[in-house]
Amino acid sequence: MKTSPKRSSPGRLAKTKKPAIRKAKHDTRLQDAGQYLLPTYKRQPVVMTNGRGAYVFDSTGKKYLDFLGGIAVNALGHAHPRIVKVIRREAGRAIHLSNLYHNAFQGPLAHKLAVWSGLDRVFFTNSGTEAIDGALKLARLYARKPQEVPGTTPTKYRFLALDNCFHGRTFGAISITSTEKYRLPFAPVVPGAEFVHFNDVTDLEAKFDDTVCAVILETVQGEGGIYPVSEAFWNRARQLATQHGALLIADEIQCGLGRTGRHFAYQKFSAKPDIVVIAKPLAAGLPLGAILVTEAVAACISPGMHGTTFGGGPLTCATALEFLSIVEDEKLLENVRERGAELREGLAKLAAKFDFIREIRGEGLMVGIELSIDGSPFVVEAMQRGLLINCTHDYTLRLLPPFIITRAQVREFLRLLEQVLAATPKQSASSEAATSSHPPRATHASAR
Ligand SMILES: Cc1ncc(COP(=O)(O)O)c(C=O)c1O
Repeated sequence: MKTSPKRSSPGRLAKTKKPAIRKAKHDTRLQDAGQYLLPTYKRQPVVMTNGRGAYVFDSTGKKYLDFLGGIAVNALGHAHPRIVKVIRREAGRAIHLSNLYHNAFQGPLAHKLAVWSGLDRVFFTNSGTEAIDGALKLARLYARKPQEVPGTTPTKYRFLALDNCFHGRTFGAISITSTEKYRLPFAPVVPGAEFVHFNDVTDLEAKFDDTVCAVILETVQGEGGIYPVSEAFWNRARQLATQHGALLIADEIQCGLGRTGRHFAYQKFSAKPDIVVIAKPLAAGLPLGAILVTEAVAACISPGMHGTTFGGGPLTCATALEFLSIVEDEKLLENVRERGAELREGLAKLAAKFDFIREIRGEGLMVGIELSIDGSPFVVEAMQRGLLINCTHDYTLRLLPPFIITRAQVREFLRLLEQVLAATPKQSASSEAATSSHPPRATHASAR
């Protein structure tokens, strides 16, 4: 088996003979995967083995420019030397202790997240969806009146979420996720969720009353196709939540921690949420999520009411502290803003050349290219040409490159993408996709 090059020259892609994602049919790892894994993903027939910076290598040694970043996880790319150093150091000290004791990193990490977010207290989890479920539990606790007997349905129990949202795969998270294919097969789900038309203030007002305990928003919808919540909608959600004694929860799992060029996407608005949920890049690829809350929310919980075995372990928290320090030390928010602007400028030029590009959306290094035709063949063609991107909601090519991306790599990406756009056989989106999963454009007009 060919091994991957140890070092790559940044900004240059290995010349690959087109088009060859080598289908490693005789690779026993693929056979094992086919035979023994639950069939939950349609995976490409490649085995990815390692990465360096913004590049990933497969088992044949083929090099890919990674503009997907493990779906927003690998904000520092791969094998960042400071991250590798911390993981090596802490793995030799203590990978896991227990939340029955303090460890050296949980408190300082919570402190730093409080400073970044402007919120007060933190609970660490293993994943985004676990953090979402915890946030929903906190909202129910916060809303429960002292005279309401535990075990009965309280007067304030409803969750308002948005059409086209995605919040994860556990029961709480699917209950507030609008996409029916993620939710309906598992019914009955957690009761009380209702969906509001995206950025539609009138619909929000109509559905908000004193029975609502929380409104949950992705500040920028990720899985749904990179749609930012409008300022008018955010402000109204904040006002209504305050007026009805409900919580405003920001799901910043995909768009938070620097992805938009700010610490958190909601920081472009003046009003703050009561709860912020984060995960993905927090521990630079190790599993770690968190629920950040105000002091008022924190006051409703006491020992024993919630917990986790793995969340907040020393290895993951030490790595997360290092991640946040690297973002500061390497001035990565600035890089996200500058490279993001270059990327969108280049994409606008491509949009002028290819009439099937309908819209470029997003902020910082969270970008969606909406097509009028099926996007999945472009993902396959991109892979063949050594480029990793993804397609969400049938039409939208999603770009989530690492924060360390260079100007040369943005140019390289644009050159490759142009080739991909020109070479890919064009297929219409299925009529089912065109009508069902894609959000109505009218409701998104104000978000542009
Ligand atoms: C906005 C958002 N919320 C929640 C989740 C769920 O996070 P996890 O996959 O870590 O459970 C995701 C994952 O893609 C997400 O993008």
